Amino acid sequence: MEKVKEIAAGKAKSMFTTNNPNELIMEFRDDASAFDGKKRASLAGKGAVNNQFNAFIMDYLGDNGVDHHLINLMDNTHSLVHSLDMFPIECVIRNRATGSICRRLGTEDGLILEKPLFEFFLKDDDLGDPLINRNHIVSFGWAKDDELDEMISTSHKVNELLTKLFADSGMILVDFKLEFGVSSGKILLGDEFTPDGCRLWDDQTLEKLDKDRFRQDLGDVIESYHMVAHRLGMQIKVD
Ligand code: ADP
Ligand code: TMP
Ligand code: ASP
Repeated sequence: MEKVKEIAAGKAKSMFTTNNPNELIMEFRDDASAFDGKKRASLAGKGAVNNQFNAFIMDYLGDNGVDHHLINLMDNTHSLVHSLDMFPIECVIRNRATGSICRRLGTEDGLILEKPLFEFFLKDDDLGDPLINRNHIVSFGWAKDDELDEMISTSHKVNELLTKLFADSGMILVDFKLEFGVSSGKILLGDEFTPDGCRLWDDQTLEKLDKDRFRQDLGDVIESYHMVAHRLGMQIKVD
């Protein structure tokens, strides 16, 4: 399968059409972005580790009953995916309070929540991805009630599966963001699951192993992504 035309160049990935109108090539670039694009850098090797990391996680979720867009890994930095009509929303699950929720509610950093917290954000960098609720989404027509029910329940299922997967390798899945879209009337998990879109802490030291290393200038960002991949048993190809 060959790239035909670039249809989107996001902050970290580019999407290309193919000869098949239902399939896209997703390229993971080395670009890193945080704070809705306000902080940017190029981190050598990020595209390769994230592309392969994402494929490993999507395969694992697929094997456990989560429908997703990945068709196959093409090479180190490219994946073939089903073309989706994306919902313009981000689904976030938090197991511990950190990041924006602490700024919003003044809660203690790292607080273990009584039960996983689900939140919707509008995908709009210019507005700083504001927190919204399902009434906003339904009233503005961004998604329907039954579609939201499905995204919420799939997000919780992903949380259960991945919390255990990471815990078995000594890591805490603190929070993460998912994006969904529709293909042939079916809701599929789209976009990516990588250390760019989640928070992972070492379960002994609470060391941050995810994109917070970039956000907070902690160093060793890509080394850390590789360490997470290695702990999960992935063989990441780098050349
Ligand atoms: P952004 O800068 O928008 O956060 P990325 O750099 O990750 O994002 O670019 C990927 C873009 O492709 C995002 O807008 C995402 O919603 C979109 N996308 C992800 N998966 C699919 C898919 N299967 N079909 C169509 N669009 C997708
Ligand atoms: P937050 O604490 O900044 O709201 O982020 C919660 C989680 O969601 C964290 O793992 C990062 C992820 N996330 C993204 O990857 N992209 C986004 O645009 C947002 C809002 C969150
Ligand atoms: N995903 C957003 C960005 O890439 C927000 C963040 O990660 O801080 O800028």
